[in-house]
Amino acid sequence: MDRLVIRGGRRIEGSVQICGAKNAALPQIAAALLSTKRLELANVPEVTDVDTMLALMREFGVVATRGPGRMLVLDAGAARNAQAPYDMVRRMRASILVLAPLLARFGSARVSLPGGCAIGARPIDLHLKALDVLGADVDIESGYIHARCKDDGLRGGRIALTLPSTGATETALMAAVLARGESEILNAARDPEVCDLALCLAAMGARIEGAGTHRILVQGVDALHHARHELITDRIEAGTYAIAAAITGGHLEILGAHLEHLGSVGAVLESAGVQIWPTDRGLMVVRSGPLQAIDVVTEPYPGFPTDLQAQFMALMTIASGASVIRETVYESRFMHVPELGRLGANISLQGSTALVRGVERLHGAEVMATDLRASVCLVLAALVAEGETTVHRIYHLDRGYESLDCKLVQCGADIQRVAG
Ligand code: UD1
Repeated sequence: MDRLVIRGGRRIEGSVQICGAKNAALPQIAAALLSTKRLELANVPEVTDVDTMLALMREFGVVATRGPGRMLVLDAGAARNAQAPYDMVRRMRASILVLAPLLARFGSARVSLPGGCAIGARPIDLHLKALDVLGADVDIESGYIHARCKDDGLRGGRIALTLPSTGATETALMAAVLARGESEILNAARDPEVCDLALCLAAMGARIEGAGTHRILVQGVDALHHARHELITDRIEAGTYAIAAAITGGHLEILGAHLEHLGSVGAVLESAGVQIWPTDRGLMVVRSGPLQAIDVVTEPYPGFPTDLQAQFMALMTIASGASVIRETVYESRFMHVPELGRLGANISLQGSTALVRGVERLHGAEVMATDLRASVCLVLAALVAEGETTVHRIYHLDRGYESLDCKLVQCGADIQRVAG
């Protein structure tokens, strides 16, 4: 297993290019199943979660071809209704996103339950409820979800989500585009990736209004057609590099990033003493003064994203004062806390709240990555830790960050990837 050896103390400076959003790529790859015509996606990041999704698509006979410019051509013309096996779905929870397109296209689907993961139980009841409203019978048997249309295909309906789940909104959207009549999705997630999926589906011929608001309306169509769509850039990657610049007292232009996609993150960083402003090419992030501890609560978009909670906690470990970080999206997403402790951070946990007391300095140690965002937070902390830090199990990082170590090295970091 590869590991990263990081010698801290260098400023992150210059510029860095952000990739297409992983969380936009995964649902849009699944959406290719909705049509017999080709779907061309531009700006698809080269990360292992995308590879996992493509391996799953091949189970259904979808032909996926990578081209230049991170282009991905998906041809589901000859797709078949195979089951999504446990062995694949357990590797990545987002595999559940194939359920709605398979059902809409073939009238039935059989997908393994995703099961738990490092950050909590993460149920899928809202996905299943949405499909039930649109006229599917859903059963769970021997660890598999069996969904079939009660009548001849799905029919429009009113889906009221009890919480604005990103994935359930995407499931509802993908099922509704081919359902007969009108569908209404209430309390929909407003994430930029949901809007981007709606744009992709619209390019394929779907009729969708209101994406980006709490109420999305969909008029079902009979079939979707060939389309080409360019993915939005990855706001979590952008936020991670912003924190890399902030934690090292550097200045970095983040090319391709959009301040509006970051929701409340910009204002939170400003309050912590980091300057952040839009440029023609993206975002500029500078920290020249001291870091102030400030409190953060994770919330659905446009609130502070749970996917940046671990990185923000790394930043707060060296801020002056104490910061209260409350996680409300997931029940247990603090696997990084003991590892940050190994680097000298002073963090105490109580339920879903972490109290981070800023320390003067962190020091290098051997640490273990446990999930995608937890691993990157250890890399960020290591950038300022005195001496050498080794981050083990970095395959988690490669799930969602394209060339993280190379990009950071180009911005001045001292990082070595060691194989084996
Ligand atoms: C997506 C993102 C993930 C991010 C999360 C929250 C992708 C591929 N992944 O995950 O990186 O951390 O949004 O921003 O886009 N829930 C239920 N029932 C359901 C579905 C969700 O109770 O049927 C709960 C979850 O357990 C969690 C909360 O809702 O507590 C938010 O989950 P959700 O927005 O669905 O996250 P994902 O779409 O899985």
